[in-house]
Amino acid sequence: MTDVRIPTVRLGAQGPEAGVQGLGCMGMSAMYGPTDTDQARAALDRALELGVTLYDTADFYGTGDNERFLAPFFRAHRDEIVIATKFALSYDPDDRTKRIIRNDPPYIRDAVEGSLKRLGVDVIDLYYMHRRDVNVPIEETVGTMAELVGEGKVKHLGLSEVTADELRAAHAVHPIAAVQSEWSLFSRDIEARVVPAARELGVALVPYSPLGRGFLTGSFTDAGQDLTADDFRRLQPRFTGANASANAALLEPVREIAGAHGATLGQIALAWVQQRATVDGLTVVPVPGTRRASRVEENVGATRITLTEGELARLEPIAAAVAGERYADMTFASAGRE
Ligand SMILES: NC(=O)c1ccc[n+]([C@@H]2O[C@H](COP(=O)([O-])OP(=O)(O)OC[C@H]3O[C@@H](n4cnc5c(N)ncnc54)[C@H](OP(=O)(O)O)[C@@H]3O)[C@@H](O)[C@H]2O)c1
Repeated sequence: MTDVRIPTVRLGAQGPEAGVQGLGCMGMSAMYGPTDTDQARAALDRALELGVTLYDTADFYGTGDNERFLAPFFRAHRDEIVIATKFALSYDPDDRTKRIIRNDPPYIRDAVEGSLKRLGVDVIDLYYMHRRDVNVPIEETVGTMAELVGEGKVKHLGLSEVTADELRAAHAVHPIAAVQSEWSLFSRDIEARVVPAARELGVALVPYSPLGRGFLTGSFTDAGQDLTADDFRRLQPRFTGANASANAALLEPVREIAGAHGATLGQIALAWVQQRATVDGLTVVPVPGTRRASRVEENVGATRITLTEGELARLEPIAAAVAGERYADMTFASAGRE
């Protein structure tokens, strides 16, 4: 493909400017089975060549390993990229099947120092609260995050999987540049309340898992059979057993539209989420995750596809027909608390 760089947009009124598609780096170190670090490095390099500048990680991914893996790339391109990382999640040391969520000030202060050290940078461009700890008032959490901005450790603030009310309360304390939540052809619950709130406040949406964690590309059907034993997707109700086969059948219109565009299924899924920017009237910067340069090229290619009204209408019923939730425990997501 030609190396035409993708356009840039601003996240939030005063937020960072970034290419209209970012890169999710989680799978380079964690969650989705074995990784090949040379391949992942090549994916990072190719993304940057194509104008992808928002790189998404978290201290939780590989318990710091993802930040450590990304550090040399980030340092080499410090002034060309937007580094986004997150705090709030960790594994229970006594039981790694359990996750701990913390939003209290001492935790945040430790977390930011840990991320800065692992990343080897002086400042984080976009710092997200990864998950909401309902035991801590959101004003207190964002108040601490705002202090980090004042101290020059963080430039811009983001929130992941928050409800519309939580977003409004947070934004009243300090401008929020972006909300990162799951948004795809298969996961549209944020359109009811979070998206309208983000539009009204001028906050950008950063859709995570825009490829439905790979399911929307058709690259696997039943996570229980097709993916390795340590793959997180085996725990997600919509990707296993009868749910998975019913959900695979929902991809038929995506396949037909892909054929009409000479595109892949994944490109249609990404074009759909990107087009929410015009449909819903807000800034949208999806962060598809891949560890392969060839897939970076393919995914970036989706930014040049525009779906017709008729195609959007054909895709409209899919999400409501999906069998199985996106998490086994939906209190882990905004939709479980709205
Ligand atoms: N805030 C949160 O709570 C949260 C939650 C989940 C994810 N995230 C962030 O969002 C990013 C993206 O989400 P995600 O990785 O969960 O899901 P995703 O982007 O929907 O899908 C990623 C999966 O799709 C595969 N894939 C990517 N491009 C492909 C293509 N063109 N053809 C076929 N398969 C393709 C990848 O495999 P390969 O890597 O092998 O290409 C990977 O298994 C993550 O990396 C992470 O940074 C945030």
